[in-house]
Amino acid sequence: MRTFRGSLAVLWTYLLVMVALWAMNSAVLAQQAPPRSGDSTKLTQSDIDRMLPPTDMGAGVHASKEASPSTASMSTGPATPFDSAHIPNNPSAPNAQAIGAKTCNACHALEDLHASHAMHVQSFQVGAANTGPQAACEACHGPGSDHAKNPTAKGSIIAFTHGSASTPETQTAVCLGCHTGGARQHWLGSVHEARGLSCTDCHNPMVRYSAEGALAKSSINQVCATCHQDVLAKFNRRSHMPLPEGQMACTDCHNPHGSVTRPLLKTDTVNDTCYSCHAEKRGPFIFEHAPVRENCLNCHDPHGSNQQTLLVLPMPMLCQQCHTMSGHPNDLQTRQSMRNGLTPDERLMGRACVTCHTNIHGSNNPSGSMFHQ
Ligand code: HEC
Ligand code: HEC
Ligand code: HEC
Ligand code: HEC
Ligand code: HEC
Ligand code: HEC
Ligand code: HEC
Ligand code: HEC
Ligand code: HEC
Ligand code: HEC
Repeated sequence: MRTFRGSLAVLWTYLLVMVALWAMNSAVLAQQAPPRSGDSTKLTQSDIDRMLPPTDMGAGVHASKEASPSTASMSTGPATPFDSAHIPNNPSAPNAQAIGAKTCNACHALEDLHASHAMHVQSFQVGAANTGPQAACEACHGPGSDHAKNPTAKGSIIAFTHGSASTPETQTAVCLGCHTGGARQHWLGSVHEARGLSCTDCHNPMVRYSAEGALAKSSINQVCATCHQDVLAKFNRRSHMPLPEGQMACTDCHNPHGSVTRPLLKTDTVNDTCYSCHAEKRGPFIFEHAPVRENCLNCHDPHGSNQQTLLVLPMPMLCQQCHTMSGHPNDLQTRQSMRNGLTPDERLMGRACVTCHTNIHGSNNPSGSMFHQ
């Protein structure tokens, strides 16, 4: 008896689902009859009105609350910073009007689904119904009436991909409309801006790829590696800071949005960048080693090296670039010198020069002038 009832229930569910699917399918077909590209210009306003769901721009808070209980939560939702978003200008469709997110989603349901997991569209959707939910698409893509009438017309909507009719300036102006200043104070004139990058070379607000930062890849380092593969590869060398291990990112040292220091460093000098983590190297010391004060990169490569401790050259060659044939028997040390006599030169063994000159970054010992202590 129980199995009989069970299968009856299954049968009923099956029938209901089939009926529902049929109903949905015909509704979708009715709604989405796409304009054929050839005669799209012959569409009248009433054709468009018939094909598209009604515009929801400007629907008052109360109107929408009464109209549909399912949108009531939107209108009473929290006020978010997205609430009074303005619709940016699209220079190639200057007369277009805003038509509201519902209309976009009638044709772009898949994009809406993906974007609803990402911070921007999600926040628009929970916002209060001023321009919040309605502006969920057009706050970035610009007013959409021209595009909805003729979707294949290039430039009818602001598009953010390379080869789109919207220039990088138009694209970045949209984002900078809400994100000007702060870290992006030096965007204009930065090397990335000058080379025609758009915000969306690194960011993708339509999909949730990264935990934070609305990035176009899963992590900051992967984003940079889309173009700077060579730099990321250097971090695989024998000596490297723990960036591939996930403990650092390119943005610990660089500001990809632009900075006053070449090459896009976050601080005023290379050394200040290094001091931000290696504070003990800042000094001041009683006995300073001139090349250290000048620039850490005299001896280190920040991205990785096959020598020990990120050194740019093997020891003792590193030191001998600057110190040869001076007072202390400091004649040029080569591999051949090792063979001389029964006792090879200690300046070549162990840690070479820093076996004795241990405090090579500077010394605070009263008798540390030679960096021995
Ligand atoms: C009538 C259906 C329809 C509506 C309504 C519609 N779109 Fe589109 N949209 C399309 C089609 C079809 C394409 C593809 C056009 C092509 O491939 O040339 C498209 C393309 C786009 C593109 C890419 C354009 C490009 O140049 O690469 C964007 C961005 C876009 N739509 C956003 C929107 C937004 C935002 C809205 C709401 C304001 C909207 N669409 C409303 C049908 C529609
Ligand atoms: C925060 C700004 C922002 C919002 C809000 C936004 N988009 Fe986008 N949209 C973008 C960016 C940036 C891209 C390009 C993504 C990429 O790099 O592929 C894009 C891409 C698209 C594309 C694909 C275009 C192409 O060239 O293939 C469509 C369609 C689209 N958006 C529709 C929508 C719809 C519909 C909504 C509302 C639900 C929406 N967008 C909301 C910024 C936005
Ligand atoms: C209508 C205003 C508006 C527009 C347009 C806009 N954003 Fe945002 N965006 C915000 C707000 C509000 C936040 C969340 C608060 C914050 O972090 O400042 C945010 C956050 C972000 C974040 C940080 C996300 C995180 O997880 O911390 C990034 C990255 C971002 N936006 C990039 C963009 C890009 C790229 C564009 C252009 C395609 C864009 N935004 C367009 C309002 C906007
Ligand atoms: C070369 C890649 C790149 C470009 C181009 C880029 N960004 Fe970013 N952006 C990043 C990375 C990486 C982060 C994450 C930084 C972090 O978490 O330290 C970020 C963070 C952000 C944030 C959130 C953190 C903050 O500073 O408030 C916003 C907002 C943002 N970018 C907006 C923009 C806008 C607007 C543009 C275009 C004018 C842009 N970005 C261009 C790589 C880029
Ligand atoms: C879409 C490609 C692209 C992406 C992604 C990208 N860059 Fe760049 N980057 C460039 C180009 C192009 C240049 C200019 C190279 C040149 O002129 O030799 C550049 C130059 C630089 C420079 C050197 C600046 C100078 O003054 O010489 C730094 C540093 C840099 N990028 C860091 C980053 C970081 C960090 C990221 C990730 C957040 C990143 N880039 C992501 C394309 C990109
Ligand atoms: C520990 C700090 C630090 C980290 C982390 C770092 N950089 Fe750099 N980067 C520098 C410094 C310092 C320079 C200047 C080198 C010079 O002047 O020779 C530089 C130079 C550059 C340059 C321009 C010249 C060159 O050497 O190619 C690019 C591009 C660059 N970095 C990209 C990146 C990328 C991409 C990442 C992440 C994979 C990254 N950097 C991580 C400190 C860092
Ligand atoms: C964001 C923090 C940070 C910044 C900025 C930074 N470092 Fe590091 N550095 C580290 C960490 C973490 C380690 C690994 C320490 C460890 O393993 O004990 C490290 C290790 C090193 C090492 C030793 C590597 C080895 O193989 O033992 C050198 C040399 C070094 N850093 C030089 C620099 C230089 C030069 C700069 C400036 C261009 C710099 N660092 C900037 C975090 C940083
Ligand atoms: C004259 C060359 C030279 C300069 C310039 C230099 N270093 Fe070094 N650094 C070395 C040598 C050699 C070692 C290896 C020391 C050892 O094996 O004991 C080293 C090791 C390190 C280490 C890892 C071991 C430790 O002492 O913590 C760090 C971190 C470091 N340097 C940071 C810096 C920073 C930051 C700067 C710039 C302020 C800098 N170095 C400038 C030669 C130099
Ligand atoms: C980029 C050039 C450069 C490099 C590389 C360099 N030094 Fe120096 N070093 C100097 C300069 C300049 C002075 C200061 C000389 C002076 O005051 O007469 C100095 C001073 C010294 C002194 C103190 C000597 C004195 O007369 O005050 C010692 C010891 C020393 N360096 C050892 C080393 C060792 C060991 C290395 C390798 C780890 C090294 N140096 C790498 C440029 C360099
Ligand atoms: C066995 C220990 C030892 C080793 C190894 C060593 N030094 Fe020295 N170094 C000294 C001593 C001790 C002095 C001080 C000599 C003095 O006061 O006359 C000195 C002094 C110096 C001076 C200052 C000399 C001057 O002109 O007054 C320089 C520069 C120097 N060393 C560089 C180097 C370099 C480069 C190496 C590696 C090739 C090296 N040292 C390896 C012990 C060592």
